[in-house]
Amino acid sequence: HAHLLGIEPLAPGDITAILDLAEDYVALNRSAAKHRDVLAGLTQINMFFEASTRTQASFELAGKRLGADVMNMAMQASSLKKGETLIDTALTLNAMHPDLLVVRHPHSGAVDLLAQKVRCAVLNAGDGRHEHPTQALLDALTIRYAKGRLHRLNIAICGDIAHSRVARSNILLLGKMENRVRLVGPPTLMPSGIAEFGVEVFDDMKAGLEGADVVMMLRLQRERMDGGFIPSEREYYHRFGLDAGKLAYAREDAIVMHPGPMNRGVEIDGEIADDINRSVIRDQVEMGVAVRMAAMELLAQGLRARRAA
Ligand code: CP
Repeated sequence: HAHLLGIEPLAPGDITAILDLAEDYVALNRSAAKHRDVLAGLTQINMFFEASTRTQASFELAGKRLGADVMNMAMQASSLKKGETLIDTALTLNAMHPDLLVVRHPHSGAVDLLAQKVRCAVLNAGDGRHEHPTQALLDALTIRYAKGRLHRLNIAICGDIAHSRVARSNILLLGKMENRVRLVGPPTLMPSGIAEFGVEVFDDMKAGLEGADVVMMLRLQRERMDGGFIPSEREYYHRFGLDAGKLAYAREDAIVMHPGPMNRGVEIDGEIADDINRSVIRDQVEMGVAVRMAAMELLAQGLRARRAA
């Protein structure tokens, strides 16, 4: 693959290859060394047109640990403010010969469009409600570590599914790896046509969490609700917020996940989020750096091979 734009085009073997390499990087990141110069001589530009803490920081660390020259574009201070289009911005950067372009954008499809205009590898760091592939890969690695496998698991993804690129990428990845995925949330926050993804849908946490090995909670994406249904936080927490009582519906050894940013007391109780016996939320952040190192190394290998051909 020339780019990492989504989970959709990946085969199960591609996913396993990224996760296997990422495991090496988990070990490297836990060691004193932390560096392996496989991206030396390459230039990585991070362009975040939307807020980010985890994704931006981990892509930057990943590039630096692999020896790339990393530049973070301050998009708020860029000439986009003066009316320059996304494509003109991309062509301008392209003229500086980057090798890896990491892009987050509020519009679904914007990163795919940009990838068609540049001569480097593009990594989607989240586009609108479309895909967030490195998030699904880091979630998969976290599950594989915690459960010892990434197939035949019951995984409940709960909350605002309709507006979530994290949910979409996870549904695609977990389905390709032959897991059973259930979606749990209010019908108003379920996307239309979801049945074609081969998932089960529940509007009740008790039924949805029964027998779950993994409980993945999502934030209410208010910034994407544009005037539509916005539930009251109190009512939402009562019906769908993960607390000890609702977690008891899942398997005794079920793990709790959340991609962040988290709204404590809205979709998840703070004590559950911090319970190191159940919550793997901090592990997800750790896996994020390793997965991004692996994804960039594999794309750089392809880029070098194409350039040498
Ligand atoms: N999970 C995730 O994408 O977090 P950020 O928005 O902080 O990058």
